[in-house]
Amino acid sequence: MSNNTPYEPIHIRTIIEPFRIRSVEPILFNTMEDRAQALAAAGYNPFLLHADDVLIDLLTDSGTGAMSSQQWAAMIASNEAYAGSPSFYRFEQAVQDITGFKHIIPTHQGRAAEHILFSSTVQPGQVVPSNTHFDTTRANIETCQGEARDLVIPEGRQPQTIHPFKGNMDLDALRETIEAVGTDRIPFVMLTITNNSGGGQPVSLANIRAVSELAHSYGLPFFLDACRFAENSWFIKTREAGQADRAPIDIAREVFSYADGCTMSAKKDGMANIGGFLAMNDDDLAQRCRNLLILTEGFPTYGGLAGYDLEAIARGLYEALEPDYLRYRVRSIAYLAEKITAGGVPIVQPSGGHAIYIDARAMLPHIPDAHYPAWSLNNALYVLGGVRGVEVGSVMFGMQPDGSERPAPLDLVRLAFPRRVYTQSHVDYLAEVLLGIYAQRERIPGHRITWQAAALRHFTARLEPTP
Ligand code: F0G
Repeated sequence: MSNNTPYEPIHIRTIIEPFRIRSVEPILFNTMEDRAQALAAAGYNPFLLHADDVLIDLLTDSGTGAMSSQQWAAMIASNEAYAGSPSFYRFEQAVQDITGFKHIIPTHQGRAAEHILFSSTVQPGQVVPSNTHFDTTRANIETCQGEARDLVIPEGRQPQTIHPFKGNMDLDALRETIEAVGTDRIPFVMLTITNNSGGGQPVSLANIRAVSELAHSYGLPFFLDACRFAENSWFIKTREAGQADRAPIDIAREVFSYADGCTMSAKKDGMANIGGFLAMNDDDLAQRCRNLLILTEGFPTYGGLAGYDLEAIARGLYEALEPDYLRYRVRSIAYLAEKITAGGVPIVQPSGGHAIYIDARAMLPHIPDAHYPAWSLNNALYVLGGVRGVEVGSVMFGMQPDGSERPAPLDLVRLAFPRRVYTQSHVDYLAEVLLGIYAQRERIPGHRITWQAAALRHFTARLEPTP
């Protein structure tokens, strides 16, 4: 026996939550009938439900995580000076330590960082290539009359195709785009890690390096939308050759070293309930961004955040990179994916870092696109299980600028997992609910819209079940 105990180690397969729970928020239980009533009162739109009426809320992983005792302790010890707060300097140091960028500009959340960056760089008619732009990124580019162009690899658009890095950029398409559009009409190249709108799929280190080299060979800057950089680092560690022995933080540092800057929502891998930042190396651009920041967010040492928010992020960024946490997070989502896939539920494969995406069109062939399969599935999930996901499909994307209707390319229900909030028994419950719904999927009615706003209709639309 090589160890100095009388025992053989037990090979334990269960991955436990790497935390103890010392502060709890009760879940209020309700019945299927209660939920059917609540949904009707909400106009069959889960965005209009009261969150108290939801048992397991998977609407988003953004700003919904649980903070650690270390984060709360730092928040109490924060400093609220308007200018030059030590909380800012701790935040700046943490972000610089991980990203290596020279200028760190706090913002109240990710989209504020995007707005400031694009307003300072994108001219009308310019094109910003990325693997897939998130909605707020796209909308902020379009507000500057630029074009947000998605160039993800073909596998990234196929729900059932298995590929370890479905978020990768199509490098040939990027080169062709740069040649066709011209470098004077491209302010910079972007990559979203992980690729949220494409199923939460990661981008490989090799692809990030290659995108960086390609952009730089044309003299173009390269920016990351880094919201889920820690999850992306974990996928690189576990899926990319030669990376297995590296710490996620070292992988993250290498990833950022290839970029000239980033936008970040600290509501994801910042482990905070609010916050974000913009970071870059270019002095002149940083100056212009700070000028705009003062106008829209606040003084550059708080940028729309309280001192205590800066403290929470300064610690959260490191906690998001802890291997035990990342192993638990990615594994618990994959565990649910395996259980429901074995039972026949069609999902985007493989499962992503923060969410599972159910392919509602494949699951509910009896509901035509015009009656919104994913929206309908999400409503059934709420009534039958008290679970709230989000439709990423034709209600969200189907309305065209001229008011006409076109089905979205994919009609999905996203189940996004708040960080450190739900346990394995919650996940087992979810699997039972999903398999129970699958068994009676033919009963799920379609929906039609009875009222809608002119833009971003999914947030406020009212619907009714079709007969
Ligand atoms: N980029 C990505 C990839 C995102 O997923 C989000 C937010 C943002 C930018 C914007 O950040 O919300 O702090 O302004 N995604 C959330 C979601 C809303 O549910 O996926 P924000």
